[in-house]
Amino acid sequence: MQLKEIYKPVKKELEEVEKVLEVSLKDSKNESVRRINSFLLESPGKRLRPAMLILSAKAASGKSRAAVSRQLINIAAAIELIHTASLIHDDVIDHSVFRHHNPTVNSKWGEDASIALGDYLYSLAFKLIATCNNMDILDCISSATKSMCEGELTQIVERDNLSLLEERYIMIIKKKTASLFAASCQAGAILSKSPRVLEIALKQYGLNFGTAFQIIDDYRDIAAPKARLGKSPGQDIAVGEMTLPLLNLLRSVNQDKRCRLENLLKSKTNDCLKKIKLELINSDAIARTKKITLPYLNSAKDRLKSLSESEYRQSLTDLVDVVLKSDVWKS
Ligand code: IPE
Ligand code: IPE
Ligand code: MG
Ligand code: MG
Repeated sequence: MQLKEIYKPVKKELEEVEKVLEVSLKDSKNESVRRINSFLLESPGKRLRPAMLILSAKAASGKSRAAVSRQLINIAAAIELIHTASLIHDDVIDHSVFRHHNPTVNSKWGEDASIALGDYLYSLAFKLIATCNNMDILDCISSATKSMCEGELTQIVERDNLSLLEERYIMIIKKKTASLFAASCQAGAILSKSPRVLEIALKQYGLNFGTAFQIIDDYRDIAAPKARLGKSPGQDIAVGEMTLPLLNLLRSVNQDKRCRLENLLKSKTNDCLKKIKLELINSDAIARTKKITLPYLNSAKDRLKSLSESEYRQSLTDLVDVVLKSDVWKS
């Protein structure tokens, strides 16, 4: 199953989100700003968060209130802008040169422009959130953005910590990645005025989905080829970020080998990624990582059971399988 198929029940709404993104990004009177912003539209991501927001809103509201408001579209676009801003800044932080099968903003226009562009996108998001005039939405999105930035900052502080605890890694990824997925789903529920119990269920769905999503992304950073990834593999190792597959690899070998692997990770040499990838494949670190990821996937699905059956709920379930499960351990 392809994402396109999963997005089908909200195809029209996602087209509206694209229009709002286009209007926001082409709004500047400044020709150079418009040119950089147009590049973002020509090099889009998967639009997971807007899709999950609209699917959540519809899944929570039931058939009777399936009409989609302008607010829903604007908030979906705002969250995508926040996500895009975070990636532009993240590519500076990680010194990444490739994303969405294209050069990154930092490699095309430099780090200074990337920082300013990320900030600009946050401001566009604030403007869209303001159109909503809803304090619950403002609280939901601002809290998630705070968590995301805090998670990213904590990860930087923890670079080169080869003894990072698994619990701390999970805390970091929940903040930097899962919180925005959780907020997307929760915001959908808030906007559809669904009962609090469904709002919590959808928030938890997003949190579990996002946690598994980042673990898989971290695994793929080591194991997936560049052509499939659309971004440069090995970035986490290159900047000294200890991810779950690496922590599991260090745990799964004897003391001697652990020492050698630690020296390899510290060296950050060009062939480091190749050697670590080989060690990973020949160890039980992948199985360990999978074992830790699966409960998050199952929890995400379980949380959807409190919603009534609908094509929207089905799409949210399918997302877990398609984005996460089927792709998970392929390289
Ligand atoms: C990428 O997220 C950043 C992570 C959280 C790993 P997405 O995979 O959703 O980004 P897009 O699809 O490129 O926008
Ligand atoms: C960054 O995580 C996720 C953010 C919240 C910005 P990664 O650094 O793993 O994301 P990629 O791999 O560059 O997409
Ligand atoms: Mg990165
Ligand atoms: Mg990554």
